[in-house]
Amino acid sequence: MADLSTNFIGIRSPNPFWLASAPPTDKEYNVRRAFEAGWGGVVWKTLGQDPAVVNVNGPRYGAIHGAGRRLLGFNNIELITDRSLETNLAEIERVKRDYPDHAVVVSLMVPCEEEAWKAILPRVEATGADGLELNFGCPHGMSERGMGSAVGQVPEYIEMVTRWCKTHSRLPVIVKLTPNITDIRFPARAAKAGGADAVSLINTISSIVSIDLDNFAPQPSIDGKGSHGGYCGPAVKPIALNMTAEIARDPQTAGIPISGIGGVTTWRDAAEFIALGCGTVQVCTAAMTYGFRVVEEMKAGLARWMDEKGYASIEDFRGRAAPNVTDWQYLNLNYVTKARIDQDKCISCGRCHIACEDTSHQAITAMKDGRRHFEVIDEECVGCNLCVEVCPVEDCITMERISGTDPRTGKAIPETYANWTQHPNNPSAAERLQFAPEPVVADAAE
Ligand SMILES: Cc1cc2nc3c(=O)[nH]c(=O)nc-3n(C[C@H](O)[C@H](O)[C@H](O)COP(=O)(O)O)c2cc1C
Ligand code: SF4
Ligand code: SF4
Repeated sequence: MADLSTNFIGIRSPNPFWLASAPPTDKEYNVRRAFEAGWGGVVWKTLGQDPAVVNVNGPRYGAIHGAGRRLLGFNNIELITDRSLETNLAEIERVKRDYPDHAVVVSLMVPCEEEAWKAILPRVEATGADGLELNFGCPHGMSERGMGSAVGQVPEYIEMVTRWCKTHSRLPVIVKLTPNITDIRFPARAAKAGGADAVSLINTISSIVSIDLDNFAPQPSIDGKGSHGGYCGPAVKPIALNMTAEIARDPQTAGIPISGIGGVTTWRDAAEFIALGCGTVQVCTAAMTYGFRVVEEMKAGLARWMDEKGYASIEDFRGRAAPNVTDWQYLNLNYVTKARIDQDKCISCGRCHIACEDTSHQAITAMKDGRRHFEVIDEECVGCNLCVEVCPVEDCITMERISGTDPRTGKAIPETYANWTQHPNNPSAAERLQFAPEPVVADAAE
């Protein structure tokens, strides 16, 4: 049976599944139940200075639903903990004492002044907590007060506050990054420069999920007004994966430990973050949607998959996908595919034909011998994959690599790798004698 235990920057946990800093980790009652349910660790709901912040007393959540009201995207206008610092610290101490083998990391957000950090750090350390997570990501409420993403959007501030924390505390420091920035590599580099032991990402994305068309207010609305919130849940996973990959393959940050966050709902989501180099994953929306027991499927599924693949530990596959993330210009232009329709699976709905006919390359028939029949015309197919994505039957359309002559171009397909850097249509290719080599970045798992 695969070993799921992790050692993330010296913080040990029985499995890589941590609850992210959010309502599931806002109090002792929740965290104890979470550990009993099987979570490996928690990042406690962000603590701030007293007096505690005040939340709205009306709706604070909004959502985007898919078929069957499956929750796809989740939005909130909640602030950091609204309970007193003293209460939280006493609870953290008790929980850590009773669960020494589980990870208890404390999330913090105080004003961007050294004295404020210097004051709170020893109090957190005294609880026996395993580490700190600096919340530089909250996109609403706190940023207006010069905290959260207001700090996370300025690399110089990230570096400065991280350095204060490393100076005034012995605990490992995880810097939680905001996705509300153009290029995630800059804040990650700043965190590293400030001495961060790790980064975690992503926090929520600034969002308005919907407008009420009766009272014309954003939802959730409070007395007829709404404010932007933070978006999370399955919908944000692609953004989180990309940002994780950017950090894992940036020569300046490659190898920095990463805790992956954003839409993790199943074991497969977690495995994908780990494959990009993450040492742990953090979960919020899935726990809020399905309850703490969702971790059972995550742990069982991950262990089963690892057993099937022969991975004895998380380290055996961590970071394996990072070297395969590259820039577009290095993709092999001699890799030619065509769509293939499995006629036994096809239900003749015609969606592939409509999509390809109206918006792609007119490469799928609709009729043959007077009957509905859907077949790929290789002479037109560019291999774009649109039909695969719109077909309602799984694995009915697949992409097949071809060799020899491409019926579309009439040209032989070279068996060698060739990329854009030396393509004849590339204006700067003529200056090059050879393909530009793809830069090699140290394996994120190292
Ligand atoms: C209601 C709610 C409150 C949150 N509060 C915090 C917080 O206090 N501190 C923090 O760092 N992140 C907070 N987050 C962000 C989560 O920790 C996490 O980064 C984000 O939800 C993405 O993960 P998910 O897709 O699994 O939900 C909150 C998220 C939600 C939904
Ligand atoms: S892969 Fe693209 S071009 Fe080819 S049949 Fe499908 S939709 Fe048409
Ligand atoms: S979308 Fe799929 S099921 Fe529908 S006609 Fe095309 S191949 Fe058949």
